Amino acid sequence: MSNELSGRIAIISGASSGIGEALARAIVLRGGSVVINARRAERLDALAEQLGPGRAVCVPGDAAEQRTIDALFDSAQRAFGRAADAVIVNAGRGLAGSLTTSDQTQWDEMFRTNYLGAARLMRSAADRLVRSLDPNPEGEAGKAGPWLSRPRDVVVIGSSVGRNISPFSSMYGSTKFAVHALAEALRREIGPRGIRVTTIEPAIVASEFQSVAGYDHGTFGAFMDRIGPVLMPDDVARTIAFAIAQPAHVHLNNIALRPTRQDYP
Ligand SMILES: NC(=O)c1ccc[n+]([C@@H]2O[C@H](COP(=O)([O-])OP(=O)(O)OC[C@H]3O[C@@H](n4cnc5c(N)ncnc54)[C@H](OP(=O)(O)O)[C@@H]3O)[C@@H](O)[C@H]2O)c1
Repeated sequence: MSNELSGRIAIISGASSGIGEALARAIVLRGGSVVINARRAERLDALAEQLGPGRAVCVPGDAAEQRTIDALFDSAQRAFGRAADAVIVNAGRGLAGSLTTSDQTQWDEMFRTNYLGAARLMRSAADRLVRSLDPNPEGEAGKAGPWLSRPRDVVVIGSSVGRNISPFSSMYGSTKFAVHALAEALRREIGPRGIRVTTIEPAIVASEFQSVAGYDHGTFGAFMDRIGPVLMPDDVARTIAFAIAQPAHVHLNNIALRPTRQDYP
């Protein structure tokens, strides 16, 4: 594996399992360092130990809380002596069912994590990444400033059901539609300053997501068998690593990934 992410420092929310965990491994494998967050502290500690000394810092806590978000950025600076230059907005959860059939008692928590938490992390990322730019962001008249020599990234994990309406998971899908809209708006706002905002839109990825969402094992398992093999967290992690390893002037905007045999949505 090449050192294509050497020197990069990435904050990853929701790194105790699935895509976030796989991404932490992928970034470190490519020479980068990570600040990892999730609520299950013991999982983060075990992952940090596997990643090796000096490569990972753990910030356990609820990613929807501003104090956790502030601690992520402060920890990056403290541990590595430099500001983070990639922020992966990944923490989230699914919810089985539609507007009429999903468990309404879980709506608030899902919106808080998937939408408000993502929005707070995006806002802080924009603020901190803009602050970390060189003092003369415009450079010489008509030319890109020196800031464009180093990539800076906000990567937002959306979903295929945040792009295509699925009546079967419409409450969850609506949180991802909202997050896609925020990501595109943020891209238009801070892209001109040299900060990339990338939306990753995976379809079905086998992870803890399905059990947390409460998908019926029989029905959903049969669907996954029919369209499988489905995506694995490593597949998404590899894609994100590729996107953030591009030269600073190359911006992969929205990346949709589906299992090859998935026909819907
Ligand atoms: N799997 C799929 O089919 C799929 C498809 C499209 C998009 N996605 C999206 O991909 C992202 C990652 O999902 P995944 O498949 O990797 O699922 P996962 O294995 O369940 O991982 C979710 C991660 O988010 C963390 N998390 C949840 N709520 C949190 C909170 N309030 N604060 C901090 N961390 C929190 C979980 O850790 P703790 O429980 O330890 O906090 C866990 O590390 C999510 O945004 C999901 O919506 C998934």
